[in-house]
Amino acid sequence: MQIITEPGQMQAIAEKLRLNRQCIGVVMTMGALHEGHLSLVKLARESAGIIILTIFVNPTQFGVNEDLHLYPRPFEKDAALAKSAGVDYLFAPETGSIYPEHSQTTVECSGVASRFEGERRPGHFKGVATIVTKLLNITKPHIAIFGEKDAQQLAVIRRLVEDLNMDIKIIGAPIVREKNGLAVSSRNIYLSNEERDAATILYKGICHAQQRVGEQAHNLLTIAEEIEAMINRTPGCRSDYVGFVDEATFEPVETAETGRKYLLLLAMYSGAVRLIDNGKIDA
Ligand code: PAF
Repeated sequence: MQIITEPGQMQAIAEKLRLNRQCIGVVMTMGALHEGHLSLVKLARESAGIIILTIFVNPTQFGVNEDLHLYPRPFEKDAALAKSAGVDYLFAPETGSIYPEHSQTTVECSGVASRFEGERRPGHFKGVATIVTKLLNITKPHIAIFGEKDAQQLAVIRRLVEDLNMDIKIIGAPIVREKNGLAVSSRNIYLSNEERDAATILYKGICHAQQRVGEQAHNLLTIAEEIEAMINRTPGCRSDYVGFVDEATFEPVETAETGRKYLLLLAMYSGAVRLIDNGKIDA
């Protein structure tokens, strides 16, 4: 596995790989690699001959009150994990080479980025859309894999790739869950044992929704309220939002129509740790 830090060098390598007719798959991360990231690499391997993994803790997607400086950066451990997962190139640039002082351009997506995480974390998706565009231009992939855990981020990326006419296939990778249903996330390391147990209420909420919709309950607002109550009744937990949306547009949906699929979005605090999750719900 080769470690590259300069965008220009990464671009030159990617260009050469393309000229040699290699199919490039990229997996973008902010490091602190876990099972979820490794599942993205595995999925990328199914479609691409060359895997580039990027590690970049992107400052522009963190809000003023968020944990940019506390964000874990275990680079040596990450590099070892990436190597053993079969990554070919690890691209880990410095902030200054990605955001030089003279840079003036950002990428912003409206509709799909406007609600839920977009509302709670102003500027977050502008930071994500900008860095993802930059990393796609630097790594020149044919395919790019993103986790379905960050469902709204995935929808924003699908939107931007289509809107900016990028010739890149975006693949969503299923959420990896622990045995108890908790979605694997970099933030889980901040949870105490009690908070971790309590956080399984998110998955219980998803199961509740699937069961209620399966029983022909059509009022999604009522089901969302039931899940919020479940979360708020759990010691140490506080619901931030629970809502059903159309998967592609992220438009909120209030009434389920038989035969359609929806996405249930959930965000809550377990202690001081903010967690998000989502589940596909078939009506
Ligand atoms: O999902 C993440 O880890 C980040 O948002 C991403 C896509 C790597 C952009 O910084």
